[in-house]
Amino acid sequence: METTPSKSASQAEVVVLSDYLKCIPGLFVHIRDETASTIEFKRYADRIMHLVVEEGLAYIDNQSPITITTPTKHVVTSCSNNCSNIVGVSIIRAGDSMLDVFMRLIPEASIGKILIQRDEATCQPVLFYSKLPSLADKIVIILDPMLATGGSAMTAIQVLIDRGALESNIYFFNVVSCPEGIDNIHSKYPNVKIISATMDKGLNEQKYIIPGLGDYGDRYFGTQ
Ligand code: PRP
Ligand code: URA
Repeated sequence: METTPSKSASQAEVVVLSDYLKCIPGLFVHIRDETASTIEFKRYADRIMHLVVEEGLAYIDNQSPITITTPTKHVVTSCSNNCSNIVGVSIIRAGDSMLDVFMRLIPEASIGKILIQRDEATCQPVLFYSKLPSLADKIVIILDPMLATGGSAMTAIQVLIDRGALESNIYFFNVVSCPEGIDNIHSKYPNVKIISATMDKGLNEQKYIIPGLGDYGDRYFGTQ
């Protein structure tokens, strides 16, 4: 099937898996359900995050051609990621839920962490801590399941750029995004590529994504 990446208002690149993967709605219905137990939420969230990381890697601009011969002596050519130049950066806390699958799929990657929390009253991001490997010439993948206003991701992107990452080498893998957050990011960082499992309608007054799924970190880690 031919697929065209979605465009945000700024026309920068956004990949939304639900535009073309048939399995996405049937997985999301479980994590959107307010009655889902923590175990149920985790089971389906893990399956979605696996898809995001696996499919997201296919959009990374660090691939080289590879040609192999099958046991039936047929020659097959495709492309493969150079995994040794990838850095994964989780935005603590919810971003840590994506690390398991990320490290399983890309064991060569080095891992950084940035602790950013949204202030519950103002919804503004507060940066507490970062620990990062060298970012020069690296592909840097931000991991955080939720892209709401984009404030947390933009704070993380600026930290990464200040530490030597090239904006065009930064990717943001998430589970749910919305147009406001995407446009906010792309108005300041048009070269950051965003890969989302799905894009929801928008934000409510409390800056929660709608229809959304509530607080991802609380539901994944059982702290609601
Ligand atoms: C959530 C989420 C993102 C942020 C998204 O984290 O994991 O980091 O909110 O919202 P934004 O796009 O409006 O910044 P939160 O600060 O609630 O902390 P948590 O990871 O502990 O749940
Ligand atoms: N963070 C979440 O976990 N959920 C939202 O809807 C918005 C921010």
